[in-house]
Amino acid sequence: MASSQQKVLAIHPDDTDTPDLCLVRLDRDTSEVALLRWAALRHRVTPRQRRFVTEAVHTLPRADTDPYRTPFAVVLADIEVHDRVTALEACVGFGILDRLGILRDLAQDPESSVLLRAYYITPEWQGKGIGRTACSARLLHPLIFEIAPEVTEVVLCVDDDNEAGLRTYRAAGFVFTGVRHDGPQGPQQVMSRPVRTGTLPAPCLSEAR
Ligand SMILES: CC(C)(COP(=O)(O)OP(=O)(O)OC[C@H]1O[C@@H](n2cnc3c(N)ncnc32)[C@H](O)[C@@H]1OP(=O)(O)O)[C@@H](O)C(=O)NCCC(=O)NCCS
Repeated sequence: MASSQQKVLAIHPDDTDTPDLCLVRLDRDTSEVALLRWAALRHRVTPRQRRFVTEAVHTLPRADTDPYRTPFAVVLADIEVHDRVTALEACVGFGILDRLGILRDLAQDPESSVLLRAYYITPEWQGKGIGRTACSARLLHPLIFEIAPEVTEVVLCVDDDNEAGLRTYRAAGFVFTGVRHDGPQGPQQVMSRPVRTGTLPAPCLSEAR
């Protein structure tokens, strides 16, 4: 990890044991990104969780062909990624920011919104506060600002029966918008959080690595 890189502070009373994290864009052409992409393609969630999310092996190639989608890795900040072993150790989650997708059905102002999709933490790292920290405003908003500075709202869809997902997003400050969506596996809630770009210290972006 570059010494100039700031670490992420705990944002939840239970997050004292949560490791420091970075979000690293996967649409860049660096050796670190190549290794993290390789690692992300090897992620597997549990069979039960496949109802709720599609892994990077499917969603990353799709994102690569869509200029509106920005894939990112959730990375343990204390591990220096220099080979496949360290990439596998460091890359503990994945997500995509989508500036188009189905935003028209979900957001009041699609032009000023971004959709968080395909978000997961790998099973061995779940339950440690990483899920709520990686999608917190502190980490996610600087990345959103870098991709689309005009965005004022981040939205997502979560299945009604995805208890872990609902708790994670609520803990990260997302609230149910009142809009419901027919997801591929059943009814979903649309949740959102305002993006206030005036408060962006950019603690941990790919440029810093
Ligand atoms: C949802 C997910 C990202 C949460 O990540 P995580 O790192 O395990 O979550 P955290 O440790 O930060 O915990 C966040 C909250 O979820 C709760 N939680 C975590 N796992 C849970 C589980 N299996 N059942 C119920 N609640 C759970 C935690 O108790 C915590 O709630 P709290 O803040 O009210 O105490 C992760 O479980 C995951 O990747 N699931 C599969 C993919 C998925 O569902 N993605 C979301 C698609 S919309």
